[in-house]
Amino acid sequence: MIPSGVIDDIKFRCDIESVISSYVTLKRTGANLKGLCPFHSERTPSFTVYPETQSYYCFGCGAAGDVITFVMKTENLDYVGAVESLAKRAGITLPDFDGNDGRPRGVSRRRVLEMNLEAAKYYRAMLFDERIGEPGRRYLAERKLSSAAVKRFGLGYSPRDGGSMLSHLRSLGFSNEEIQTAYFAGKNDRGYYDYFRGRVMFPIIDVSGNVIAFGGRVLDDSKPKYLNTSDTPAFKKTKNLFALNYAKNAGEGYFILCEGYMDVITLHDAGFGMAVASLGTAFTEDQARIIKKYVPKVVLSYDSDEAGQKAANRAIGILEKVGIEPKVLRMSGAKDPDEYIKKFGADRFRSLISESSGKFDFAADGVKAKYDCSIPAEKIKAAAEIAQFIARVYSSVERDIYIERAAKEFSVDPASLKNDVERERKKIASDYEKKRKGELIRVTAGTNDRVNPDFARQPKAARIEEAVLGMILLHPDYLTRQPDGRRLREEDFVTALGRRFFSFVAENAENGAFQFGLLNGAFTPDEVARAAKMMAERTELSVNDGESFDVYVRALREENAKNAADMTLEDVLRMRRGKDANAQNTGSGG
Ligand code: UTP
Ligand code: MN
Repeated sequence: MIPSGVIDDIKFRCDIESVISSYVTLKRTGANLKGLCPFHSERTPSFTVYPETQSYYCFGCGAAGDVITFVMKTENLDYVGAVESLAKRAGITLPDFDGNDGRPRGVSRRRVLEMNLEAAKYYRAMLFDERIGEPGRRYLAERKLSSAAVKRFGLGYSPRDGGSMLSHLRSLGFSNEEIQTAYFAGKNDRGYYDYFRGRVMFPIIDVSGNVIAFGGRVLDDSKPKYLNTSDTPAFKKTKNLFALNYAKNAGEGYFILCEGYMDVITLHDAGFGMAVASLGTAFTEDQARIIKKYVPKVVLSYDSDEAGQKAANRAIGILEKVGIEPKVLRMSGAKDPDEYIKKFGADRFRSLISESSGKFDFAADGVKAKYDCSIPAEKIKAAAEIAQFIARVYSSVERDIYIERAAKEFSVDPASLKNDVERERKKIASDYEKKRKGELIRVTAGTNDRVNPDFARQPKAARIEEAVLGMILLHPDYLTRQPDGRRLREEDFVTALGRRFFSFVAENAENGAFQFGLLNGAFTPDEVARAAKMMAERTELSVNDGESFDVYVRALREENAKNAADMTLEDVLRMRRGKDANAQNTGSGG
């Protein structure tokens, strides 16, 4: 009901960690955070927040979901109410929306691209209009942007009053509906109004040279600082990168990934043509996959504040997941690359790039900054924390390398450090086992599982099913795997809910990625919570690789076959219907 682009925006600006922190005291454990559950009373924390998947899960009571579900529950709001409350918190004005968000479905990509091109020309003309463009030009000059950069990036200005885009596009023959679909106009009870006003405009251009969207910055400190085109028939912000049209030809063998439009423009202007940025949302797996088509390595250059470093941490995980080597650039004395270059110059930035470090150094630097290692008690804490980091690294070869390096950097004995790491790994495994048992008791004690009523009928199979679904949610690319020679199919699943989850993810995954938030449109909040729980449980484990996935799928199929003996006639008929539909690619197994 609410445009998905708006939801993305809200989720980006309302990081789950910071929202939940205003209700619950959270403590970091490795990549995740823990606290006392706000939904049931407990003395040892089993409420866990997963920044990487932007979800939470309580091992005590089973509460789970994303930032919106959390606000729904704590503030006792419905879905729209929670979205409105988060939007307010983030300083975002919700567009008017009705049943289908007010935007007609019939507008073509081609029409939107035509409008965008006209709009880019018009914004540019307005920027250079003697009178109208004066505030925009003054602002860009204050920001010390060269006129070459202004030209190269096609920057423009959306007038505050006069020079309305709405009337300009109308005069070119575009309808109000088309203009609204392309996000040049919003609509309220008094009619249509210009979406961008009094802003410096940054066109976003795809690799084929189409203008696909705009970002617009205010000229002062008012909020929201940037307005961006939400998703249109010609634009999906999670699948594009700012300045990729130029960076793809930079030929440096790596990209610099920053947070802001301004950072990218300043970097290009200073000779770093390999800089790109995500578009007003957190960095996504889709964007990582796009980057991988061009370069095998990324130097992260996020803001130096805590939020920026957290975002960098998350981006490291995403880059690694798709097989890109992440490096992190450490900057001091400036809040972002734009400020750094203006203060210290391009040469110093260049040396920061060559000094950029891998994820181990990034973690080690973080630990070092936190403790004074000349004091023995502090050094012990530092070593324990670095051991915790290393324990969570999946590959044992990589762990050994980090143990060697950490031993040197913190001047501790490598053998003792290795012991600590192993102990930490055992602890992670046994903690998980304990939690899982608690969970099991909870699930089986309540034989009336309202969310998934089929669970109690075949608990063993249903549990394996949840593991499989959790892995698919974490790694949608596993959908193309063929355990025992065939892909997963709906009838491999044993509960009705499991089948619905599977079909939905299979239908909506694109290029091996799936937007968890889409579930909100097709499932009840309780069901979405169940999916978050499945994902959370898998996140806790290090066995989430393709081969383990195959093992689980095999086990699921075996259980399914066993249960076939107890099936009712109705079950059999339902499954046969599914099978007939897939008859052409069905083998004899099953
Ligand atoms: P920053 O606040 O770091 O912006 O947000 P910046 O690019 O450094 O901007 P200046 O230097 O203050 O002009 C980083 C990016 O996050 C998105 C934009 O894409 C921005 O470039 N963002 C930020 C928004 O979409 N909306 C906002 O309100 C703020
Ligand atoms: Mn900035």
